[in-house]
Amino acid sequence: MKRHLISAGDLTKDDALLILDTAEELARVSERSIKKLPTLRGRTVVNLFFEDSTRTRISFEAAAKRLSADVINFSAKGSSVSKGESLKDTALTLEAMGADAVVIRHGASGAPHRLANWVRGSVVNAGDGTHEHPTQALLDAFSMRRRLGGLEGRKVTIVGDVLHSRVARSNVLLLATLGAEVTLVAPPTLLPVSVGTWPCEVSYDLDAVLPKSDVVMMLRVQKERMNAAYFPSEREYSRRYGLDRDRFAKMPDDAIVMHPGPMNRGMEIAAEVADSPRSTIVEQVANGVTIRMAVLYLLLGGEISQ
Ligand code: CP
Repeated sequence: MKRHLISAGDLTKDDALLILDTAEELARVSERSIKKLPTLRGRTVVNLFFEDSTRTRISFEAAAKRLSADVINFSAKGSSVSKGESLKDTALTLEAMGADAVVIRHGASGAPHRLANWVRGSVVNAGDGTHEHPTQALLDAFSMRRRLGGLEGRKVTIVGDVLHSRVARSNVLLLATLGAEVTLVAPPTLLPVSVGTWPCEVSYDLDAVLPKSDVVMMLRVQKERMNAAYFPSEREYSRRYGLDRDRFAKMPDDAIVMHPGPMNRGMEIAAEVADSPRSTIVEQVANGVTIRMAVLYLLLGGEISQ
């Protein structure tokens, strides 16, 4: 493992499998009545969140606490960031408080990379702009592996607002490393111009791809990042790219449905599909704690290579 986790593309297949296998071991701890391990006693993890989060922030906190680390939660709202303090000065302040790891979510793509130049501890990217969200990809791969038994040769279809999705980019990079075959399905306006360089296929026809999919991952339409009209209407988007009951019926019987959350129920995914037994959406949240325990354990407690 490297000192930081900033991009899923930085992980070798061995790194990724080590994280998934470590998470499998740690999942057994999560099933016990006493879930705590002494592994990171005396280490400090800072959660530095400049953007809103429910799942990622809470699961990093739970993961660090289950490993007995001290946790400092920092939210930009209500901090001196609102008085104009820079990311660098915020980071140096936290560094002075003895952070061994800084988990950062930031609206600017590249912020974790910058932070890694300013702090001595490990930096974990918890989502930077439209760039990457590597621990989400790891928990998604872990959830797929648990349901399907393995990822090699599995057909994973990722559908929706790829343009604004850090989850899509991290998943494509990690799943390619792990031997899965990824197809992105989106309106042309919601695909990045660089998508031709990504290790995946692209399709505009969801109905054609669904019957060949082992996994269908629906992405949230990120209206808060849209400064233009990317599709005619929500109704039209839902009709072409939403996973409703009829489309769900076109998937193979053992295929699973995923969503990183938060969901726009009724837009990219119908409520009855999201709540079906073949949906892993709740499992993904639980697996998020386990994967983040594995990442913190390996970065702070395991062997590090530069
Ligand atoms: N999937 C995800 O990153 O969710 P949050 O924004 O709630 O952390």
